Amino acid sequence: MSESSDDFGLAYIDSCDQLTVLCIHGFPFSSAMWEPQVEDLSGIARVIAPDLRGHGRSEAAPPPYTMSMLADDCLGLLDYLGIENPVVVCGLSMGGYIAFEFFRKYPERVAGLILASTRAKADTPEGKAGRDAAIEKAQKQGVTAVAADMLPKLFAPRTYEEDDEVVDFVQEMMEGTSLEGMLGALHAMKNRPDSTPTLAEIDVPTLIIHGADDQLIPVAEARDMRAAIKGAQLVVIPDAGHLPNLEQIDAFSDAVIDFVDSLIDHDDDHEH
Ligand code: MLT
Repeated sequence: MSESSDDFGLAYIDSCDQLTVLCIHGFPFSSAMWEPQVEDLSGIARVIAPDLRGHGRSEAAPPPYTMSMLADDCLGLLDYLGIENPVVVCGLSMGGYIAFEFFRKYPERVAGLILASTRAKADTPEGKAGRDAAIEKAQKQGVTAVAADMLPKLFAPRTYEEDDEVVDFVQEMMEGTSLEGMLGALHAMKNRPDSTPTLAEIDVPTLIIHGADDQLIPVAEARDMRAAIKGAQLVVIPDAGHLPNLEQIDAFSDAVIDFVDSLIDHDDDHEH
């Protein structure tokens, strides 16, 4: 034991004493998809973006996964980092499915929600059959084959035709997913609960962001969520598909910044 073990209060400065935004990526991506927002939000919020198990640089865990497990992984990261104050949970697509689960399990840890390119409904029978087909394809032909099927559907037609840089970036990111991660996440999405009943329970400020040209989740789903969540705002981003944060970076980041600012101002109002 050291000599200076007296009981005393130690003061410190933590430059990260800012509202935290927990950014949860979609399938089969990684935290790399949030790089533009990490930059745009610097000085405004602390951004924490995990690589979900089996994705990006995180280690793989054997499939299957569940939304509950993935939400717990996010909570574990916040606890590990000592972030006890409620955070803004920002989930894109599968990240949104996880955000719903996180809110159901840990509402006291949520200061606000950003639901991007996502939907509340569970998979339809056809959707579940599509998951089974993707599982089989991944097992037989590998992650790259599933990524190749998804690639053209992820973007607005204009992005896909004209923005090689972003298309190549997303392809590479998808190909970096482990087979276990891909299978685990496909199982989690196939078996996820219907979050529609959760919408009426949401009592935190909520921002919904959706690409006008999303081919995977139609913008009508975002409008339905807006109607069902009390006080929710919806920002529809033109010329963006399923990845508006990469296709129209400024429009996406500005919507997030305005939302985060409104939460910070709101907090100040309470203090004075
Ligand atoms: C995603 O982007 O996370 C997935 O496309 C969502 C899904 O397949 O339901």
